[in-house]
Amino acid sequence: MCGIVAYLGDKKAKPILVEGLKRLEYRGYDSAGLAVIDHGRLQLVRSAGRISDLESCLAEQELEGSLGIAHTRWATHGAATTENAHPHLDHTGKIAIVHNGIIENFATLKKWLISKGCTFRSETDSEVIANLISLFYYDESQSDQAGPDRGLEIRLETAVRLALRELDGTYGIAVVSSEVPDVLIAARRGSPMVVGLGDGEFIVASDAAAIVKHTTQAIYLGDNEMVVVTRDGYRTITIENDPVAAKIEQIEYSLDRLELDGYAHYMAKEIFEQPQTLADCLKGRLDQTSGQVVLGGIASLSRELVRAHRIGIAACGTAWHAGLVGEYLFEQLAQLPAEVDYASEFRYRNPIIEQDTVFIVISQSGETLDTLAALQEAKERGALVLGIVNSVGSTIARQTDAGIYLHVGPEIGVASTKAFTGQLAVLTMLALYIARRRRMSQQMLEHYIRALRRIPEQISTVLEQSEYIHQVAQEYHQRENWLFLGRGYQFPVALEGALKLKEISYIHAEGLPAAEMKHGPIALITPEMPVVFVAPKSSQYDKVMGNVEEVKARGGIIIAVATEGDETIRDYADHVFTVPDTLEELQPMLTVIPLQLLAYHAALIRGHDVDKPRNLAKSVTVE
Ligand code: M6R
Repeated sequence: MCGIVAYLGDKKAKPILVEGLKRLEYRGYDSAGLAVIDHGRLQLVRSAGRISDLESCLAEQELEGSLGIAHTRWATHGAATTENAHPHLDHTGKIAIVHNGIIENFATLKKWLISKGCTFRSETDSEVIANLISLFYYDESQSDQAGPDRGLEIRLETAVRLALRELDGTYGIAVVSSEVPDVLIAARRGSPMVVGLGDGEFIVASDAAAIVKHTTQAIYLGDNEMVVVTRDGYRTITIENDPVAAKIEQIEYSLDRLELDGYAHYMAKEIFEQPQTLADCLKGRLDQTSGQVVLGGIASLSRELVRAHRIGIAACGTAWHAGLVGEYLFEQLAQLPAEVDYASEFRYRNPIIEQDTVFIVISQSGETLDTLAALQEAKERGALVLGIVNSVGSTIARQTDAGIYLHVGPEIGVASTKAFTGQLAVLTMLALYIARRRRMSQQMLEHYIRALRRIPEQISTVLEQSEYIHQVAQEYHQRENWLFLGRGYQFPVALEGALKLKEISYIHAEGLPAAEMKHGPIALITPEMPVVFVAPKSSQYDKVMGNVEEVKARGGIIIAVATEGDETIRDYADHVFTVPDTLEELQPMLTVIPLQLLAYHAALIRGHDVDKPRNLAKSVTVE
């Protein structure tokens, strides 16, 4: 989704801004642009398309300035055109802004600004921010609020504050003006902004990835906070003009982990590194000597967790699928009622949060707006909120009462893979942690711990089938409709397999509980339709085999994910991907791997950019 980078320092801004934008490319975007204050003038360069297109436009421009703002845009209001790309200027052309988020009252504001004589050049909601700031900046009566004899810096800061107070919705913004050539202002509400503090320079960005090359010291702005950066330093205040004591933090982000390491795509790298990322996720959390699950991030809340009467879970997309597995895990292992919600629906249905409810939000990025809103809703209704998050220091991680990081490293591919297996591992450990404190015997816990420890190497053996999975993808990649079926713990895996295929191969796929097939979808089955059964040996195996037979009887193409050594399923299936045997509750960490590979190979064969699928963004920071 949209990304912001801004620079004020002693170097040329242009190359730093472009490099920063490249670090944000993985978030998904459809246009890009930058504005640099060059010899006192605002120079604006924008382009629809990729950052390479912006670079071509910039090739001719010798921009010397050391203050600038840049943006990658993921279209919400208005098409992905150069005119709609950020930065946006006010109608005087002297103030430039970049904006992440959505301004909900933009239509009313736009009408009002037009009545005041402002002109607009784009279809975006963001342009109203530039004109609002401008209106306050040039309004003599408003400038009184800055006080007599105050400089242009204060006048701009005041105008930004007053403008932000008019906005409904969410924003992360950065603002510069050619009239105030040594000042950079940034602010946030519901959309992340990090202020990197370098040596004689400041890099402000919506994502730490754009900062870490320059500095690891940073301030994370809170909601309704602003930073005013000058060549002499910075000040943090609220949009109500109250001072904020800035907390300088160390950014934990390793650039090494952003390399492709010889893989053609981040998605491939992230699929194949799962034995290691899962090992990292489990590391230090399964104590062999004491036979305990050790979860430092929630240790102080163990009493509340044991006392809990109910677990609520909210997440989106792949994280929601992990949450659904979590629902089964909490009920099965910890005997705790659990329910997973689509984060986007949660706050719109007057949810009941009973006393002693523990609410868990799951998010790879830690920035998904719907998940953040569910978190806030649950908190307001009195729940204790835990986060299962990958991105350290992200907004969700900071707003939860406590949490458990995945520790699987940055996930760059838009299709979530290693984060999913990490989420499953963390949910399993959390369920075991609570279960042992409630009713599970030590012997049983150790049985699970032993099985969990084997998962990383078991994933390695599944990955060895990549070439065979590629052949199967080759055979069926032109089929435009697929079904993915599973029961129990494999139902969420079926959903995840279908989502993976949809989002990067653009093939229509549906995931269903296998038994639901006969309530309607069975009508779709023809000899043309691939049906993927996620059917490892489990308590539901015989029932799933019944469904396999039903599809076979109707001539469907059967692709099965089955346990190694299962010869029965080979009599029915056209193709079998195998997974090593493990406990039923842990199977999703293995059975999802062939489905990730299937989607990856199908997308490549169909000629798609798997790391940047069309219309998608890595973190969805709008509602
Ligand atoms: O960053 P999050 O885990 O909160 O993201 C949630 C979804 O947007 C995400 O899982 C999405 O569905 C992925 N593209 C799936 O591969």
